Parts: sequence; structure tokens; C-alpha cells
Amino acid sequence: MKTNKPGRNQSQSKDEMVNLVNNVNRQEDLKLNRRAFLKATAGASVALGLATLPFSVHAMIGDFEDEEHRVEIVNLADLPKGSSVTFYYPTENDPALLVHTMAGELKAYNSACTHLMCPVFYEKEEEVLLCPCHKGYFDLNNGHPIAGPPQRELPLIKTEVVNGIVYAVDRQVRHG
Ligand code: FES
Repeated sequence: MKTNKPGRNQSQSKDEMVNLVNNVNRQEDLKLNRRAFLKATAGASVALGLATLPFSVHAMIGDFEDEEHRVEIVNLADLPKGSSVTFYYPTENDPALLVHTMAGELKAYNSACTHLMCPVFYEKEEEVLLCPCHKGYFDLNNGHPIAGPPQRELPLIKTEVVNGIVYAVDRQVRHG
């Protein structure tokens, strides 16, 4: 006949029971931690979104302002082919050059040389942009450096002609 003596088997199963309860508790803890983590993450995302909202609105308004940022340069009738005029764009601190090429195109760039910021001039005979400081040359068609020390393009300024007036309407800075 079998007796139910408290022996090794009984204490073993008691230990197993304790382990099982511990495991269940641990699983519950993990679930709770996961839930708390998700809640915290969602809360942080919402808070971050709200915190950056003013910047997003400002960026949108800023873009709109950029689109509206047009500066009158010159009456085209006063700028014959083969001549140039200086102006400032997009701010009063950004000197620029508008060239009416011999072919009748309008080309505009910021005129601070990309080497050491000397002013760049229109060289009519060779139809290039020249920086006299260290003999830097830029292609009139695209503002790319073609000779001398400059390595970067001149910032390109987009123009529009409305009722005979040339306006600067946008700027494209290429390669910093
Ligand atoms: S500043 Fe223009 S080439 Fe040096």
C-alpha cells in the first residue's frame, strides 16, 4: 500500500508551484511594463508633435513668404544685350549680378566669389563671369567654376519678366 509521506517528491512539486507562480507574476509584470512603455511612448509622441507644431506652421508660412519674395531688379529696356547690373537678393547683404547675355538670355547669380567672396563681374568679350582677386572664372550659363581657385558654383537666382520689369523670384544654393 502506498502512503502519502511528505518526502522529496512533495517538496519538489511545492518548489515547482512556487516557480510557476513566480513565472506568472513575472509575465504579468512584463505585460504591465509593456503597456506602460507603450502609453509613455504614445504620450511622448503626442507631446513632441504638439511641441513642434509652431515650428511646422512657421515653416509653412516661411515657404509661402519665400514664394512671395520677389525683388524688382531693373527695367529690361535699360539693360541692353551684353550688359549687366548689380542688385541684392534675397537680402540686402547678398550682392548679385544680372546679365543680359549677347544671345538675349537673362542670367543671375549671387556675385560673391565662392573662393574668398570677392565680387564677380561680367566679362563681355568672353561671356564669362570673372573674379579678379585670384582670376577665378565661372560659366555664365550655369555659374559653375571653370578656371582658377573657385571650386563651387555661384548661387543661381531665378528671374521673371513681368510688364518689362525683371524680378528676382527665387534662389538656388548649390553645394553649400
Ligand atoms: S576670391 Fe575669387 S578667385 Fe579668389
